[in-house]
Amino acid sequence: MRVCHVVGARPNYMKAAPVIRALQQRSEIEQVLAHTGQHYDFNMSDVFFHELEIPAPDINLKVGSGSHAQQTAEIMLRFETVILDRKPDLVLVYGDVNSTVAAALVCAKLGVKVGHVEAGLRSFDRTMPEEVNRVLTDQVADLLFTPSVDGNTNLAREGIAAKKVFLVGNVMIDTLVCMLPKTRGHMPMQLPQRYALVTLHRPSNVDDLDWLRDMLDMLGGAKADLGVVFPVHPRTRQRMSQIKSSFNSNVRLLEALPYLQFLALEQGASLVITDSGGIQEETTFLGIPCLTVRDNTERPITLELGTNELVGRDLKHIASAIERVLDGSTKSIEIPPLWDGHAGERIADVIVGRRRLRCAAGSNSGS
Ligand code: UD1
Repeated sequence: MRVCHVVGARPNYMKAAPVIRALQQRSEIEQVLAHTGQHYDFNMSDVFFHELEIPAPDINLKVGSGSHAQQTAEIMLRFETVILDRKPDLVLVYGDVNSTVAAALVCAKLGVKVGHVEAGLRSFDRTMPEEVNRVLTDQVADLLFTPSVDGNTNLAREGIAAKKVFLVGNVMIDTLVCMLPKTRGHMPMQLPQRYALVTLHRPSNVDDLDWLRDMLDMLGGAKADLGVVFPVHPRTRQRMSQIKSSFNSNVRLLEALPYLQFLALEQGASLVITDSGGIQEETTFLGIPCLTVRDNTERPITLELGTNELVGRDLKHIASAIERVLDGSTKSIEIPPLWDGHAGERIADVIVGRRRLRCAAGSNSGS
């Protein structure tokens, strides 16, 4: 059986790595890895292949940046030829980026089976490009691998047959569990004992230049003994070049970081301030307080069980949440079920059909 993985943007690599590794153990599977080239900077792509020991892509579509329509259409055009040449039996797509939906649509049109890893997440906010990508990908997928039970509930509500849905746990946490013992010596810099780790890259935050400037000023003026470290995504870097702010003095700006350096920073942080999706999950697993600078999340389990809190975009509210977290008021937390480092193996089990998965919560469970 030939399985083709499609990756393209930074968060895809951590999700694909454990699935590729698990499938390498199954002799009946031949794997092909296609990189769309949505992300192309060394520190947004290549470095993760080295660190996570992902084999070099067999194909790079080199689509690069563009509007959503350009990027998605270009991936579709170029990926169609890959499918026709390589004739995979199954294509695996990951997460919610443009590469995910583009590849899934190509497969649906050509009648090739597609599996979606990280299916069922919903923010219920269609202004987010990722939400559109999630809904469409799930509608055309043949196998849907969910990280948490809310995903199964969402898919059932959208009329997706339970027999296609498999609750397997969180592949991002597989990579975290595998890489945690390797972070020693990867701290990128000396920092005060207490520091906040900041990441912001969503268009809804960083394309609003007034808000971005005020946010950076607020972080720069936070408590004197609180270090602030901010690895900057290329989109954010580009926006920051257009604004003036006093933030430079207290906020340590870094380039986008390799996985191990970022993980070392995350592990040692007093709190994380982010608009990322995956970081909400990682902080829950690590027990680090996370303030999410959004009004909604597609990962509600991190609010229910984990360390995550939605703080929206109100700067006064964010500043008081930082104070509260630093004063030590934290809630008791639990690691969500099946976030145990073995999701990739459960996905491999489903793909090779070795195991009948027992039904749970109206769907299939890999536990
Ligand atoms: C994409 C995903 C987002 C994910 C994020 C992680 C979509 C719709 N969005 O957003 O869900 O959280 O990746 O990073 O797919 N750029 C570079 N070098 C690169 C890549 C991008 O300079 O290697 C710059 C370009 O100016 C580009 C901009 O960043 O236009 C945005 O890149 P793009 O891939 O369009 O979306 P992201 O914001 O990275």
